[in-house]
Amino acid sequence: MEKTHVILDPAYQIAPVDSRIFGGFLEHMGRAIYEGVFDPNSTHADENGFRKDVLRALRQLRMTAMRYPGGNFASGYHWMDGIGPKELRPTVRELAWQSIEPNQFGTDEFMKMASMMEWTPMLTLNLGTGTPEEARNWVEYCNCAVGSRYADLRAKNGSKAPFQVKLWCLGNEMDGSWQLGHVPADLYAIYAQQAAKLMKDTDPSIETVACGTCSTSLPTYMEWDRTVLEYIGSYADYISLHRYVGNRMGDTPDYLAITNSIDQQIEEMDAVCRFVQARSKTKKRHYLCFDEWNIWYRKRSAEHTNGSGKFAPHLIEEQYNLEDALVVAGFLNSFIRHADIVKIANLAQIVNVIAPIQTRGDDMLLQTIFYPFAMYSSRRDGIALLPSIRGPAYESPSYGRVNTIDISAILGDGVLHIFLVNRNISETAEIEIDHGRGKLISVISSEVVSGSDPNVCNTYENPKAICNQPLQTVKVSEGKGSVQLPPLSVAAITFKTA
Ligand code: AHR
Repeated sequence: MEKTHVILDPAYQIAPVDSRIFGGFLEHMGRAIYEGVFDPNSTHADENGFRKDVLRALRQLRMTAMRYPGGNFASGYHWMDGIGPKELRPTVRELAWQSIEPNQFGTDEFMKMASMMEWTPMLTLNLGTGTPEEARNWVEYCNCAVGSRYADLRAKNGSKAPFQVKLWCLGNEMDGSWQLGHVPADLYAIYAQQAAKLMKDTDPSIETVACGTCSTSLPTYMEWDRTVLEYIGSYADYISLHRYVGNRMGDTPDYLAITNSIDQQIEEMDAVCRFVQARSKTKKRHYLCFDEWNIWYRKRSAEHTNGSGKFAPHLIEEQYNLEDALVVAGFLNSFIRHADIVKIANLAQIVNVIAPIQTRGDDMLLQTIFYPFAMYSSRRDGIALLPSIRGPAYESPSYGRVNTIDISAILGDGVLHIFLVNRNISETAEIEIDHGRGKLISVISSEVVSGSDPNVCNTYENPKAICNQPLQTVKVSEGKGSVQLPPLSVAAITFKTA
């Protein structure tokens, strides 16, 4: 294969990488909470009923913003069902996933977990069947000092100090007809504005995320977003977007080119934000919150999405392979390259439900997608650089022309982190890295995830079929780097810089 030349000049900076792009998402769905992070009957349970093995694994992902309690679940959830003495909490019929919800895990448990895990809590309101007042009461419960009704209730439930929840999503996927309480854009905009106003009146320091278009294939794509942003104005700080992808054609090179369309989605949504900003002649610019993203296409049918009235049913438990791990890396590359636009992103989800971690009884399995996320997340501090790339490319039937090597880079304090995906399925790539006006001194660390078969998964029998390995083929000479990257691989490399 022809060599790839990359220039990463320290002067060509995009923006500081917001650490919140390494967020996660925990929904009351399937076995994400029960049998996932919370399982008092497990031998791994701590005194709170939290699964220590799962939390230990999650710690390696160093996740930041953690979105909770949904998802579609949020649109029928009444947060007061999940607080107070556990024996008094109602068991309810949950309509989004047709499951039984016993409310044994709620706001207080989530906040305890978030604090243990150093997550930034991000709560999704019920704007489907809930009211703006219920939303504002939740803000008081979480954020206000004692001395009023809901703050006192929090203290009574064991937490005198406020939880300080800064990030609030104004509903979930309200543009989708499947959503409980789905309404047209103009009506949603009114509900969201009403809720956000009451919430910001209760705690002016919070930030809110308006529901944007959740699928580029919806006919209201962009028009929904324009309508909502124009109406809600400064009551929202971010607009959300979601993306679930898959290799529906069974064509690996085509699938790996999907980053083109992720870049496009981000840029189109940003165009709406800028359009609204220009039209309203305001300094307020809305940024993007990519609060659900992942691979989800195998477990889409009713048997995987309808809980049939059961507690903790097996829902959308997608099994991930090597090519999925490379696509996860592609999403992260795209977020880093758009560091000036994307400020929050949440891998959906974290345990069992389309997740990097699976449980089976007391066993636990790390899926392929766990590894790239961990490799990137541990190298996230710094400023995204604009890569200039010259090298082989190919035509993807679905996503157009794409470079064989996908890249992003973060300039840290005396270090340069580079993330590379080799989309070629059979050939090793030669990559030369020129740090422009800077100089590479040495390789501090380098890891790779690769394999010969894009369909290989980790299993309980062979749990490390796909995992991170040291990458030995990275060199520095005369201030430049060179990398030999195996086919079908993602690498994360940290260089010391002058
Ligand atoms: O993550 C699974 C579901 O996907 C979420 O509940 C919903 O928001 C999206 O459609």
